[in-house]
Amino acid sequence: MTNTVGQSTTARANANIAFIKYWGNIDDALRLPANPSISMNLDGLFTQTTVTWREDLAADQLTLNGQSAEAQALRRVSTHLDALRQRLAISGYAAVESANNFPTGAGIASSAAAFAALTIAAAAAAGLTLSERELTTLARLGSGSASRSVPSGFVEWYSGATHEQSFAESIASPDHWDIVDVVAIVSHAHKTTGSSEGHQSANSSDYQTARVAGASDRLVVCKRALLERDFATFAEIVEHDSNMMHAVMMTSRPPLFYWQPATLGVMEHVRQWRADGLRVCYTLDAGPNVHCICVRGDMEQVREGLKQLSDVQDVLVANPGGPAQII
Ligand code: DP6
Repeated sequence: MTNTVGQSTTARANANIAFIKYWGNIDDALRLPANPSISMNLDGLFTQTTVTWREDLAADQLTLNGQSAEAQALRRVSTHLDALRQRLAISGYAAVESANNFPTGAGIASSAAAFAALTIAAAAAAGLTLSERELTTLARLGSGSASRSVPSGFVEWYSGATHEQSFAESIASPDHWDIVDVVAIVSHAHKTTGSSEGHQSANSSDYQTARVAGASDRLVVCKRALLERDFATFAEIVEHDSNMMHAVMMTSRPPLFYWQPATLGVMEHVRQWRADGLRVCYTLDAGPNVHCICVRGDMEQVREGLKQLSDVQDVLVANPGGPAQII
């Protein structure tokens, strides 16, 4: 057994926004995704988690934003800790304290930041020094998108056919491209169907096969545009990939409609602003809020434009962010 009992370790991980989306798994238990994906870490939108392995506990404990966590959240964390205990030969249970610095229900995927921070803190608290690659595979077991919150900046997650092959790595540092995520919050409500359930129903849409078949090609186009800072190509492929994922969601059985009327309104404005010359495009995760990705020089206009829209309740801004870290 490898752990250093009683030692507390704190880690911090940023949320991320995908430009080429992960939707559906070839193996739900291992979270081996149906297709590779690309994302950008969101600077300043993070989860901070402290883990202490203890031999005196009869079960794992979880505090979320200062309060004892609900059973469902504890179960998911404990299942992930089981995987870490087994794969890393750690003994004992863990006391976990976790907090997000962004509002819950703001449409920022918290599971990516949460499971990246948890994995890193748990391994370090056990006295283990693991490679970044291994940490991305372990974080993936807790939440697929968490693998992308471990490395720095702009990140690619290779789908892989085995646990070891399905890892993420940085393809460019945060300062590679001065683009910004301006998030238009149109609803603070909690979504009724979470991503994990959604992934499991992806294959019930006839469109999933077509979406997956084209994903690697879209990724190549997106990656090249990102590396060459070619915003026009980037914008088109990012919107298209998001639309493809939502087409699958809407045609799954039962269907998943994450868009609200206000969502479509913001999407139309973004397209119009781009036609008018602003370098901005949209992408949406499993929720109604619209991530408007823009070049920094056009950010103020995008932010002001969004604030003018009566359906937009709030606007958050995030720059490209760094890697998950022990603090
Ligand atoms: C729509 O990583 O949240 O945000 O692996 O079940 O935790 P689990 O799912 P999750 O799925 C993210 C889906 C997405 C697209 C993306 O981030 O690539």
